[in-house]
Amino acid sequence: MIKIDQYFDPAGWQKFTKAAEGRETPFLVVDLNRIKVKFNEMVGLFPDAKIHYAMKASPAVEVINLLADLGSNFDCASIYELDRVLDCGVDATRISYGNTIKKAKDVRYAFEKGVTLYATDSEADLKNIAEQAPGSNVFVRILVEGSDTAEWPLSRKFGCHPDMAVDLLIQAHKLGLVPYGVSFHVGSQQKSVAVWNDALLMVKDIFDQLLHEQGLKLQMINLGGGFPAKYLNQINTIQDYAGSVKQYLLDSYGVDDMPEIILEPGRSLVASSGVLVSDVVLISRKANEETTRWVYTDVGLFQGLIETLGEAIKYPIYTPTMATSTQSGRVVLAGPTCDSADIMYEETDYQLPQELAIGDKIYWLATGAYTNSYSSIEFNGFPPLEVVYVD
Ligand SMILES: Cc1ncc(COP(=O)(O)O)c(C=O)c1O
Repeated sequence: MIKIDQYFDPAGWQKFTKAAEGRETPFLVVDLNRIKVKFNEMVGLFPDAKIHYAMKASPAVEVINLLADLGSNFDCASIYELDRVLDCGVDATRISYGNTIKKAKDVRYAFEKGVTLYATDSEADLKNIAEQAPGSNVFVRILVEGSDTAEWPLSRKFGCHPDMAVDLLIQAHKLGLVPYGVSFHVGSQQKSVAVWNDALLMVKDIFDQLLHEQGLKLQMINLGGGFPAKYLNQINTIQDYAGSVKQYLLDSYGVDDMPEIILEPGRSLVASSGVLVSDVVLISRKANEETTRWVYTDVGLFQGLIETLGEAIKYPIYTPTMATSTQSGRVVLAGPTCDSADIMYEETDYQLPQELAIGDKIYWLATGAYTNSYSSIEFNGFPPLEVVYVD
């Protein structure tokens, strides 16, 4: 069982409990101040990098406005995210279109709105960009290792082999685009610091090949996201990650030839800002002699906890009786819908107090990333997740 002071100081926790008072569950409380702290920490660790917040982690206007005021740039995955961030008054020069899968008409739309920085990983998409967003800057996303050590891997679907990246960057130049740089994503909630090193070595090879064989000088490396949030499992600190990554970069390029660095953090900026508040709907056992309790809460995979699929992301969970309970027991945690996939944790050893009762509150900590935007609209009739912002 966790202790709440592992995640919050007393004043920080009080903010959440106060916002939760008297409200009908389920809902997500987001403390904007915690996002501000994380953003400023990232800027402090990478003072020379440009941060493009990966909006998909939490595309709420409250979060966008906060980060825009703090000077963040934005990476969007669709024209809908683009419209959202533009509506918040963010200039198009601060926005990248980071999705490698996009319709030609959406590229045109983004270009007409002023976006001139695009990710790609295929010839067909590159040609679309050349036709619909002429003269723009493009960066090619490469396939990298890291899926074994990432809790939410992003490899396979995105990126191309480094050899193909070289070809695409040459082709970009021929098509009148600016071959701007290379990007990668080591996988979300990446536990290994070393995978950045391997990825950066590949990037350096691409930079060298283009310069020495084609006379093309790339200008930018996009390190993507992947920096972890503090869930149940132990992780290295963000300082450890930043220290290693900066060292890898220095070793490869030196101070004088350092390319522009872009970071696209999502999870690491917003996860710790959220607490999802739920009620216990039912506690049951599957057989008379069974000791494991099935605890059904009024949130599940379809109310924002989709990243528990395969028990990938292991959220810390807290219930008030933990503070005094002396006896805990094994539980399976499941959501309220009639879908049998709606089980958050069955294999992972979650323990809750023996005193846990129907109607008790369960707080899902560190749920500020990839939760509210993933919540279904009305699966089984349940409404979308309500979000309350505090600062
Ligand atoms: C292109 C891109 N950049 C950045 C991110 C953010 O990654 P993370 O949440 O691990 O920081 C993602 C996540 O899916 C992504 O697809």
